[in-house]
Parts: sequence; C-alpha cells; structure tokens
Amino acid sequence: MITVSTIKELREYTKQWRREGLSIGLVPTMGYLHEGHRSLIDKAVKENDKVVVSIFVNPTQFGPNEDLSTYPRDIDRDKELCEKAGAAIVFNPEASEMYFNNANTYADVEKLTDGLCGLKRPGHFRGVCTIVSKLFNIVNPDRAYFGEKDAQQLAVIRRMVRDLNFDIEIIGCPIIREEDGLAKSSRNKYLSLEERAAATILNKSLMKSKEFLENGEISAEVIKSKIKAEIDSELLAKIDYIEIVDKYTLEPVRDIKSSILIAIAVFIGNTRLIDNFTFELEEK
Ligand code: PAF
Repeated sequence: MITVSTIKELREYTKQWRREGLSIGLVPTMGYLHEGHRSLIDKAVKENDKVVVSIFVNPTQFGPNEDLSTYPRDIDRDKELCEKAGAAIVFNPEASEMYFNNANTYADVEKLTDGLCGLKRPGHFRGVCTIVSKLFNIVNPDRAYFGEKDAQQLAVIRRMVRDLNFDIEIIGCPIIREEDGLAKSSRNKYLSLEERAAATILNKSLMKSKEFLENGEISAEVIKSKIKAEIDSELLAKIDYIEIVDKYTLEPVRDIKSSILIAIAVFIGNTRLIDNFTFELEEK
C-alpha cells in the first residue's frame, strides 16, 4: 500500500489503473478509523480491483464553533488499518492541496439539507458535498462507500450524484455498533468514562421507539415523545434533535405509512453524537 499526498500523484495511479481496465473503489474518510470504516474498506476491497481510502479532516464542513482543531487524528494507526484491509492507496493531503485560497465554487444540495443536521450545522453539507465532489473528480471511482450512520449525508450524496450525473455507484453500509449498542464513531473518543456509559441512551431510546412501531404505533409525534422521555431520563444527555422523516426525501412525516428514518442528535456532555434507524412499514 502506498500513501500519497498530492492530487497529481494520485491521478497518475488512478489513470494507470483505468488504462489497465481495473475497477476503483473510493472510501472517503476523515481518519481516526474504527470498525465502521473498516467495514466500508472491506466491502470496497471485495467489490473493486483497487481501493483508495482518503483521509482528510475537511475544514469546510466544520462550523466556527465546532471541533475541527480537536478532531482526533492518528495517521499511523489509520494507515496500518488500511494496509491490513487491503487498500491500494491512502490519500492523505494537506488542506492547502485540496483547496485553492481563492476558491469560489461549491456543491450544494438544496431541500434535503434543510432539516436534521443541515439545520443544526449550517454550511456542513455544502462542505461535505464540495469535498466529496472533488474526491470523485480526482479519483474517478466506479463505486464510493459511505456509512449509514450519517444517514442524511448518504441521502444528500446520492441526490448530488443523481442530479450532477456523476457516473459513480454509491454504496451505503450498515452502522457498526459497540457491544452495548453505541454506534461506532471517531467522536466517541471525546467521551469520559461516565459519558461513555451515558451515550448508550441514543441506541436505547431508538430501540424503545422500534418496539412502539412494531406494536402498531403510527403517530410520529407519539414516537418522538417516547424517544424524548427516554433520553431525558439520562442526566448527561441533551437533545439536539429527534426527527422522523421520509427515508428518501427527508421530509418530516406525521403518520408512519412507508419507509421512514428516525434520526437523533444528542449532546453527551460537550460531545454531539448522532444515531438513526430506518423502518419499513409492512404492507398489510
Ligand atoms: O463522513 C465523513 O467522514 C465525511 O463527512 C466525508 C464523507 C469523508 C467528507 O469529508
């Protein structure tokens, strides 16, 4: 496995692979890799001849009061994980390599970014879509892999790829959880022991709501109030949002009639965590 830090060098490899008729998978990440990322890389390695993992903490997707400067980093461990998983290239550029000082062009997906994290983190998805578009243009992959934990991100990227005619298959991969149900996330590192224990409330509250759904509850308001009550019972937790939306349009639903996404964002101390699950109402 090789590590490259410039766009020029990366393109030399990917162009050569294309000439040889090899397929390319891209796994875009911000590093501090965990089993969730590993599952994306494993799938990419299975499905493509060559896999590029990008490791880039993308400044444009962080708000002014967010955790850009403290975002966890461990490039040596990340490279080891990528190598073991069978990636061909780790692309680890500096911010100055990825962005021109006077850049004026962005990729922005409307409507789907109006709610959920888009509402709470203004500009976040513009940053995500811009960097993902740039990576798509640089690597020119056949397939790109994203985790379902960032459900809105996945829906937004799928829409961007459709709307802008990127010839890339977007593959969503299931959430990987700790044994106690906490979704794996690089940000879990911020949690103290006490907060780590409290963080299980996200998944617990979602599982509770799933029971109500399975027992036939169809009111989104009722389900949301059950989730809220559960999270409020945890003293270290502060709700950022609880939303029930259509899985594809991300528009809020009143009654649960089709495929829905239940998405939550919760502060545990100062750490903002997200989790979600999708629910398909069975046809009767
Ligand atoms: O999901 C992430 O880690 C990031 O948002 C992504 C897709 C790598 C873009 O920076």
